[in-house]
Amino acid sequence: MCGIVGYIGPRSAQDVVISGLRRLEYRGYDSAGIAVGSDGTLSARKKSGKITHLDEELAARPLPASHQGIGHTRWATHGGPTDSNAHPHLSQSGRVALVHNGIIENFAELRAELEADGVRFASETDTETAAQLLGRLVDEGTPLAAAMRQVAGRLEGAFTLVAIDSDDPDRVVAARRNSPLVVGVGEGENFLGSDVAAFLEYTRDAIELGQDQVVEITRDDVTITDLDGSTATAVKPYHVDWDIAAAEKGGFDWFMRKEIYEQPRAVADTLLGRYSASGELTLDEVRIRPEELRRIDKIVIVACGTAFYAGLVAKYAIEHWTRIPCEVEIASEFRYRDPIIDPMTLVVTISQSGETADTLMAIRHAREQHAKVIAICNTNGATIPRESDAVIYTHAGPERGVASTKGFLTQVVACYLLGLYLAQVRGMKYREEIAAVMDELSTMPEKIQRVLDEGQQVLDLAGELRDEHSFLFLGRHVGYPVSLEGALKLKEIAYKHAEGFPAGELKHGPIALVEKDIPVFVVVPPRGRDQLHDKVISNIQEVRARGARTIVLVEDGDDEVLPYSDVVIRHPRVSTLLQPLVATVPLQLFACELATRLGHDVDQPRNLAKSVTVE
Ligand code: M6R
Repeated sequence: MCGIVGYIGPRSAQDVVISGLRRLEYRGYDSAGIAVGSDGTLSARKKSGKITHLDEELAARPLPASHQGIGHTRWATHGGPTDSNAHPHLSQSGRVALVHNGIIENFAELRAELEADGVRFASETDTETAAQLLGRLVDEGTPLAAAMRQVAGRLEGAFTLVAIDSDDPDRVVAARRNSPLVVGVGEGENFLGSDVAAFLEYTRDAIELGQDQVVEITRDDVTITDLDGSTATAVKPYHVDWDIAAAEKGGFDWFMRKEIYEQPRAVADTLLGRYSASGELTLDEVRIRPEELRRIDKIVIVACGTAFYAGLVAKYAIEHWTRIPCEVEIASEFRYRDPIIDPMTLVVTISQSGETADTLMAIRHAREQHAKVIAICNTNGATIPRESDAVIYTHAGPERGVASTKGFLTQVVACYLLGLYLAQVRGMKYREEIAAVMDELSTMPEKIQRVLDEGQQVLDLAGELRDEHSFLFLGRHVGYPVSLEGALKLKEIAYKHAEGFPAGELKHGPIALVEKDIPVFVVVPPRGRDQLHDKVISNIQEVRARGARTIVLVEDGDDEVLPYSDVVIRHPRVSTLLQPLVATVPLQLFACELATRLGHDVDQPRNLAKSVTVE
């Protein structure tokens, strides 16, 4: 997730672009850059780090005055957060500058084609491929918008592209697929932005671009076409009423709520580009040779908080698919118990921020014992991926709410990918078996969206249960970590006493906590897996018999729970191992809404920090 701005009009392009980037910094902040056109030449400045670093660069090397510009604030995906990987990227001739948000899945083939043609690349990014393709067409005489349509037609994946041509100072051109882009319509000036926050101080009239559309903005016109060049129909202009703070949150009251609603996109992005047409799974930066992965005799997953719960889900999937024993350990406990690890151990660390000190120390300890370390991380270039042998990036985009939501779902997805990859490398699964899971995973964004669309029931429930003091969460198998996550969300933002338990363990002690009307959430496994489903039904009866109010999360069509449920929350049918991706979402919404109704600061709960960089 990156922030993009484009401008054409009478104002200083630099001023408009930089102020837009500041508003979009919440979308990514590991590097920033700007390009402007003036007197037939493009000038670009870009710098790793926050926009303040770019400000210093602009002060040291001022740009010429210009009325045509593009800018970018980056959340790195392909290539670390360096100056050379920062956007904009220029074509080889320097005639075209381009910024990009998204992931170009087929960039490796396109890059090879361009390199064979003599194009020299200046970065490690997927983005530069689009800049070079566009530059080649424009150099041959194709107008920028027509070139953009051709390039967009060749790309696979998700992208918003915005470009300028030094020989066409009156135009900015953009394209989008599966990545956001909004046009800001002004008087004698027009704007482009990843969202309206980019231009809200200049205009409140906007047009949202549809899938596979290309837009050209000049001072007085906005022209939108489909990729075949025909004029786009069903273009919907709208007026924005939000203030700037609300705009950054996409109109949501909290970043956390926005991030919950971003999950279908985040999961889709994390799956992008991992699975080839020939049925091969590939991961980001796995610098561990297949022979070494075949020798691994144990996996230890190490993480903290929500990431630890993602690890607990992973254990079920990885052991099931690979038959490699898998332990999951809280990072702060790991190195103090003298864990048994050696060169045959694969240590998997999970961290949204990539900076959690406990997890980092665990990595250092593991590497001292010569274990191989794979990091699952959301932050490109953070310390944890840098100190690991391999990295799988989750593509959730920046997570601002202290309570992790899209971080968790994408970590779970990355763990599934790792499990399937190990199964592939070790020959534990047939291609068709891996394909079947990948097919089901590809349907998850749509299923998560459905859970969100039906979220009103959970929001109302939060209103009803606002004054309860204690909540219990029960689950078995992967439903157990979901219960732990549901309880943690409620503790950290609603400050409620909440406990998650394995449902079968209840009768060994915790059932004593059950008193009249205590809300008990129960995650019911999908039907058909051993006797798991029936056992959980018995557990629901046990707590209900003792007066609990049972709130049951269950798949569509499962009516066996009805006689024992006070509230039934449905989710789409999925296989057992993938259930956390749909069952966690109502619990996130519930916690967010309850905390909101209690008047708490949901994004910055008391006593907590987003990234815990001390042990
Ligand atoms: O950045 P990390 O994923 O390493 O952070 C780990 C935990 O600190 C984090 O998940 C924490 O538990 C969250 N506040 C939970 O919502």
